[in-house]
Amino acid sequence: MTDTIKTPDAARRTFLALAAAGPATLAFGGAALPQTAETNPAPRPGTGRAAIVTGSSRGIGAATAKRLARDGYAVTVNCLVNTDLAAQVVAEIEAEGGRAIWRQADVADPEAVRALFAANNEAFGGVDVIVSNAGIFNAGPFAEMTDAAFDRMIATNVKGGFNTLREAARHVRDGGRIITLSSGIVRQTPPGGAAYAGTKADLQIYARVLAKEVAGRDIRVNAVAPGAVDTELLWQHGEELLEGVAEATPLRRLGQPEDIANVIAVLCSDSGAWVNGETVYANGGLN
Ligand SMILES: NC(=O)c1ccc[n+]([C@@H]2O[C@H](COP(=O)([O-])OP(=O)(O)OC[C@H]3O[C@@H](n4cnc5c(N)ncnc54)[C@H](OP(=O)(O)O)[C@@H]3O)[C@@H](O)[C@H]2O)c1
Repeated sequence: MTDTIKTPDAARRTFLALAAAGPATLAFGGAALPQTAETNPAPRPGTGRAAIVTGSSRGIGAATAKRLARDGYAVTVNCLVNTDLAAQVVAEIEAEGGRAIWRQADVADPEAVRALFAANNEAFGGVDVIVSNAGIFNAGPFAEMTDAAFDRMIATNVKGGFNTLREAARHVRDGGRIITLSSGIVRQTPPGGAAYAGTKADLQIYARVLAKEVAGRDIRVNAVAPGAVDTELLWQHGEELLEGVAEATPLRRLGQPEDIANVIAVLCSDSGAWVNGETVYANGGLN
């Protein structure tokens, strides 16, 4: 019976062994991810950095892709169905002297996400910024939410977010940035928003945990939680909702996709150097 009880000395030895194996092991008592800082030096600004932005054919993702391109990243643009819009984002980036490619990939499909990263790596040699942005918003009270609407939201937002962050964890270069798009609805919790808010709460936890798993490689992982932003995601819910949320926002307007792209750009820049494992709310005061 005493065999299974750890003496203080045994417990101390276990602690020291875990501490020696690195912070990830210490936190979980499990295997740490490989730390490759020596073999894979962090790229410097302007020296061939690349970014993948999921769901960047329109809305916040498109604004983010264009902003990152202006900040010097080669960008892989992604869409689900609107390939013409994705090609247009690439054309706009190239017209401003940037480099970009686009790929169709359903983030809910792990194979498709792997292919998206492979295409980026083949075109640009690696990835330094991943913005897991693709998402959908199906609203409805518990009593009225359909199985299909719920399942598609879980597949896109939760599984898609996980698929993207998993590939990000596997491929991001040292010194990289990983950002996932949560939502201010996690704090607002309005009626009819439970299913969507639940998916977006998961993403905050993913960012917090992944920041710890990639510790020691100067990689920052954060979630950005926008308030109401003027995109198709909101337009589909009607004019009344748009006017209501603009009125409820202390800055008395909807956010623009560029407002969120700017926050993401700061988190990717040296100005965001001490923000890690966090959720940054950007909502004009809508709480
Ligand atoms: N707008 C807001 O008020 C707001 C507020 C808080 C958080 N957010 C979050 O911010 C993110 C972007 O929202 P948005 O307003 O910019 O949305 P949006 O205008 O509706 O654009 C959604 C983008 O995601 C892509 N997409 C959708 N499902 C996909 C899938 N399964 N695989 C790959 N791409 C997919 C779309 O591609 P296609 O063009 O091919 O369909 C499109 O590029 C979302 O995660 C959303 O939840 C938005």
